[in-house]
Amino acid sequence: MIKKHYICKLLCFHKIKFLDSNLEMSGDAELRNDMGKCVSESVQKSIPRHVAVIMDGNGRWAQKRGLERMLGHVAGVESLRNTIKEARISGVEYLTVYAFSTENWGRPEKEVDGLMNLFCKCLEQESTELNKQGVRLMFIGQRNGLNEEIRKSMESCEKLTEANDKLTLIVAFNYSARQELIDAARMLATDVAEGKINAEDIDEQQFEQKLYTRQIPAPDLIIRTSGECRLSNFLLWQAAYAEFYFTQVLWPDFDSSEWQQAMISYGQRKRRFGLV
Ligand code: FPP
Repeated sequence: MIKKHYICKLLCFHKIKFLDSNLEMSGDAELRNDMGKCVSESVQKSIPRHVAVIMDGNGRWAQKRGLERMLGHVAGVESLRNTIKEARISGVEYLTVYAFSTENWGRPEKEVDGLMNLFCKCLEQESTELNKQGVRLMFIGQRNGLNEEIRKSMESCEKLTEANDKLTLIVAFNYSARQELIDAARMLATDVAEGKINAEDIDEQQFEQKLYTRQIPAPDLIIRTSGECRLSNFLLWQAAYAEFYFTQVLWPDFDSSEWQQAMISYGQRKRRFGLV
């Protein structure tokens, strides 16, 4: 179900002539039905199927308030909860969030430990509710660098939610896009060495099948908060034709109205995929 206010805002931006009120006013049921379908198809096209988010600015949010950086991450969890809700309501099918990069291990030990504990606690506390909401949880990244408790928790969340189909939430944790590409290249090299495939037959489809994101469509929209305008080793292959939305807002301040602005901005884009 798409919220009424999304429809109204998107209609304005797409300059669709018949407004919601006309639909209600029209006495002709068939016409009303046709108009409704048309509006809904147009709005559906404006909703990205897959949104990926670089949740940046937690540390600065906390520092601005004289708080420890870790409290910024704690506040970031609330934004994430709200973003999941918004994604579900607006009809997004896949939401990928960048929660911990392989480069993040280089942060002070206290912050790394804090993020690991927060992640563990979140999985424990949120998975039941996410399951109730019909959210499927998946994780991308290198699991072998993580402790056993976290790995087991990730596996049990994936198992618990595997049949859900309202929204797929993909959490990039201990993730590096370059490592993902190296892993894919290694797998293909092994297949060639074992005579399963010929090197000259390797194409984009085969390559994609070796990525952590196989079975997941490429992101349509990548959002980054906090005013930084870079990918930071996130979904390098998958981002080839993504639209980008950068906002100055720090991640803990990314609320429903920020989400809607991102959706509206996406709805205004003309995607050509290299065509005219
Ligand atoms: C980037 O902000 C954010 C992170 C490295 C962690 C993101 C984590 C959350 C939103 C919490 C939910 C996820 C988990 C793991 C439970 P930053 O620290 O780089 O901010 P800064 O650029 O202002 O320093």
